[in-house]
Amino acid sequence: MGKKAIGIDIGGTGIKGALVDVKDGKLLSERIRMETPEGGRPDEMAKVVQSIVRELRAAKDIPVGICFPAVVQHGVAKSAANVSSEWIDYDADAHFTEALGRSVHMLNDADAAGYAEAKFGAAKKQKGLSILTTLGTGIGTALLNNGVLVPNSELGHLPLEGSTAEKLAAFSVKERENLTWEQWAERLQKYYTLLENLLVPDLFIVGGGVSKEHEFFLPLLKLKTPIVPAELKNAAGIIGAATLANKHD
Ligand code: BGC
Repeated sequence: MGKKAIGIDIGGTGIKGALVDVKDGKLLSERIRMETPEGGRPDEMAKVVQSIVRELRAAKDIPVGICFPAVVQHGVAKSAANVSSEWIDYDADAHFTEALGRSVHMLNDADAAGYAEAKFGAAKKQKGLSILTTLGTGIGTALLNNGVLVPNSELGHLPLEGSTAEKLAAFSVKERENLTWEQWAERLQKYYTLLENLLVPDLFIVGGGVSKEHEFFLPLLKLKTPIVPAELKNAAGIIGAATLANKHD
């Protein structure tokens, strides 16, 4: 096992990558960001990932971890909630391994962020069940039991109030419907209460860009479970993807 890996975080608007020290979860390079191609199709995205990896100029034996906003089962994308449906059944591991000429490990974006938070961030050394939720365009979730990831939990799609959690309480919904922090927190309250009743976690970690503004909504939530902002900010996906790639290499 090497000490370095490349982490790539594919999102709806941008694709970001960096070289990571997987022993301490620190970035060893600048974060390179490129626009996500219109339509988010796999082939075009692969070209952008190729350019980012090329720019990082890492040795050929350094593996790549790629996280992505969909279910990824054994390297194959299985859903496409907010990306092109061409991703469904796309063998991302195989295609990206060929495109990059390196060992590639592909995984869900929330899983990558959750793993990074459990190893290096807000859930470090946390005992029992930690649940990371990312509040962004959609809602992603990661389950970590004593730091071990149970992949593809997809609890953002849980039914809630005749809709789904993601359609009711994602950060994009707050923006689209112009909700106040208080109005949004009422929806989050329902969502986290549901999670708490179903899974009885020991800790909630809140990620996604809006976690920077946690003081406006986390104090409004009344839960039995401690709830804390993510610590690794917008590098969590990159760090988690790289660290897991190194493990699978
Ligand atoms: C997807 C998840 C993803 C989340 C955050 C959801 O719509 O189903 O796979 O983790 O968005 O990007």
